[in-house]
Amino acid sequence: MSADNTKSAKPQITRRDFLGVAWAALTLVLGGELAGVLFRYIQPVSTGGFGGVVNAGKVDDFQRGSITNNQAGRFYLYRMEDGSFLALWQKCTHLGCSVPYVEAENQFHCPCHGSLYNQLGEVQGGPAPRPMDFFPVTITDGQVFVDTGNPITRTKFDPSQTTKA
Ligand code: FES
Repeated sequence: MSADNTKSAKPQITRRDFLGVAWAALTLVLGGELAGVLFRYIQPVSTGGFGGVVNAGKVDDFQRGSITNNQAGRFYLYRMEDGSFLALWQKCTHLGCSVPYVEAENQFHCPCHGSLYNQLGEVQGGPAPRPMDFFPVTITDGQVFVDTGNPITRTKFDPSQTTKA
């Protein structure tokens, strides 16, 4: 028996076969990654952060007349003098910068192009085309919940945008 006969008995993996298996494995991995990303994208956003329902805290934690920055939810919670709540999205309605509340000025003052908003989010100056958007607020068992998945645009403030405690 010759050495050539021994070699021909071994299974041969051609370059084409190897590349075919490699492509199949790569496709499987990428498909799995894509499925994971899609699943995370389409699953309902849960509580805790921007895009979902945020528990802002207990009603009694917010003094009347105060404005509280909720960084995780990207909103300001204004507890009005009558005790009701208004949640304002921090996003400037001009070009989308994050708008800080400047306590010394008693207003929101956008650092990008100078838009000014009062505590109700109404435009007081600058290029902003409309009031700050707001989020629906609900109160359950003495807790304030803000639905940051549904920003609402408006042309002016109306008391119906607030939630009574
Ligand atoms: S983005 Fe706020 S004033 Fe332009």
